Amino acid sequence: MTTRASLDKQPQEVASMFDGVAKRYDLTNDILSFGQDRAWRAEVAKAVDARPAQKVLDLAAGTATSSLPFTRTGAYVVPCDFSLGMLRVGKQRHGWLPFTAGDATRLPFRDDVFDAVTISFGLRNVSDTPAALRELYRVTKPGGRVVICEFSSPTWAPFRTVYTEYLMRALPPVARAVSSNPDAYVYLAESIRDWPDQPALASLLQDAGWSKVAWRNLTGGIVALHRGFKPQER
Ligand SMILES: C[S@@+](CC[C@H](N)C(=O)[O-])C[C@H]1O[C@@H](n2cnc3c(N)ncnc32)[C@H](O)[C@@H]1O
Repeated sequence: MTTRASLDKQPQEVASMFDGVAKRYDLTNDILSFGQDRAWRAEVAKAVDARPAQKVLDLAAGTATSSLPFTRTGAYVVPCDFSLGMLRVGKQRHGWLPFTAGDATRLPFRDDVFDAVTISFGLRNVSDTPAALRELYRVTKPGGRVVICEFSSPTWAPFRTVYTEYLMRALPPVARAVSSNPDAYVYLAESIRDWPDQPALASLLQDAGWSKVAWRNLTGGIVALHRGFKPQER
């Protein structure tokens, strides 16, 4: 088992690292984010605005904690991930969901099938971000939407400094106390620091074809929600 992926994010390493944290993944998240993850997920659900019978792809869904809010409105939600360990834990907890194994850069779906595609805390872990954004675009119906929830850059410089200190110094020891694989949380801190800020991610979305791209900061920019639309066919 890989305990900690490197920043080139080799797919085998990333999948294996998540296999290793699967069992305590949700608990560790709650602790490390001081319970903020719940509020963030509620905001993602509002942004996705899944309607009854709409098809929603939750990519990099892990144990499907991120998928559940979309199911509550009666949407048909497909959680997809390439870590079989995460999928297995998800299936034990929410056996009724159509868990699907798949890689973000080569999605196992036809073109133009989903009304909405979304990815929470997953895009940062994909080795080829532009390829994943293009794949999300391909499987979305014309007129459909994407919502990306990802760690980002706090907008107020003094807060950004305190937060970066938290990530690099405080988070690893806390993870050591609660996670089944504390090394994975060193990767978490490094990968957040290395990730494009809000405008840079918006540009990547536009480059992949998404239109009307916009973002909203949560918790001062610790997290950002990016949104885009696939243009209607003429
Ligand atoms: C931090 S977890 C997020 C899980 C869930 N979305 C949530 O919000 O709790 C990141 C997930 O991304 C998945 N992942 C990373 N790279 C992927 C890829 N190329 N294709 C599919 N899943 C991927 C990992 O296996 C892991 O389950």
